[in-house]
Amino acid sequence: MIKVTNLTKKFGQIKAVNNISFSVNIGEILGFLGPNGAGKSTTMRIITGFIPQTSGNVCVGGYDVSKHSLKTRENIGYLAGNAPVYPDMTVTGFLKFCAEIRGFSGAALKKKVSETIEKCFLTKVQLQTVETLSKGYKQRVSFAQSIIHDPKYLILDEPTDGLDPNQKYEIRTMIRQMSKTKAIILSSHILEEVDIVCSRAIIITQGSIIADETPKQLRKRSKFYGAVSAIFNTPVKNDIISDLKKHKIIKNIDIKNDNRNLTVFPKTSETAILDTVLTILNNHKTKPVSVFVDKGRLDEVFRTLTVPPDNLLQNVNLSSFLH
Ligand SMILES: Nc1ncnc2c1ncn2[C@@H]1O[C@H](COP(=O)(O)OP(=O)(O)O)[C@@H](O)[C@H]1O
Ligand SMILES: [Mg+2]
Repeated sequence: MIKVTNLTKKFGQIKAVNNISFSVNIGEILGFLGPNGAGKSTTMRIITGFIPQTSGNVCVGGYDVSKHSLKTRENIGYLAGNAPVYPDMTVTGFLKFCAEIRGFSGAALKKKVSETIEKCFLTKVQLQTVETLSKGYKQRVSFAQSIIHDPKYLILDEPTDGLDPNQKYEIRTMIRQMSKTKAIILSSHILEEVDIVCSRAIIITQGSIIADETPKQLRKRSKFYGAVSAIFNTPVKNDIISDLKKHKIIKNIDIKNDNRNLTVFPKTSETAILDTVLTILNNHKTKPVSVFVDKGRLDEVFRTLTVPPDNLLQNVNLSSFLH
């Protein structure tokens, strides 16, 4: 596992990382979330042995990174933020070079390179120089070098940054496919990505951890979690609204568009209210044209947690603009 204990990093007066602790087990994909400058990349650089910490320690696979740098780096794959790949090398040339410094030679090296090229969908461009590749392909090459030695520990700094939706999908699929046998940390400021890919999420802001839970637990903190939104062709009668409001498992109702759009909030995040809402509507012989249960909104939770309350603008409910 990767175990980070009381890790602190100062750059002069700046405390980029402030006494953070967490661990990641094999089989887990940990999402590292936070606004720009939160300390995500700095933490990753320390874990991969690129820069030393000011205090605290990092163990990877039972070895202290600062004491057994080579031993730990053998088992780590690292995709750095800015996809550093040599521009004038061909894809195959670059990956051969990477495999060589990872200790492969002869037939084993050839096999590793061709396997990785296939796995990362690079066959088409394998003879091109890196500088001629699009951003998405460069990122795949970078990703390929991070997994070429099949590392147990994979540290990916914004792996899908700048990719189009299809390329994002491919990289996410590859990450998920590999996760059973690896401990993976990936940083992102795309909340949706963390929800789709990660089994756990850590939110970091100003160098400190402010949440460490599953994406679902994070979504549960959203005031929209479990809310039922219903849209009607004609305005809903006020006696229906008051029946809904009266029910003991319903907290309140947000009404928009002249009683045509209702968002009904449950008393607690543990309460399922869909059946109750539909029964009450049915009792009044009223049918919505669409209805959905909100999964909770990570962007709202993220903003509430990472923006000081004074700067928090009122969240705008866009649903009335969308219908
Ligand atoms: N080499 C460095 N020298 C000085 N300050 C740095 C250095 N690297 C990062 N920082 C500062 O540390 C803080 C955290 O940066 P970083 O870890 O890159 O954040 P993130 O990856 O979350 O955007 C920022 O305030 C950044 O300016
Ligand atoms: Mg960064």
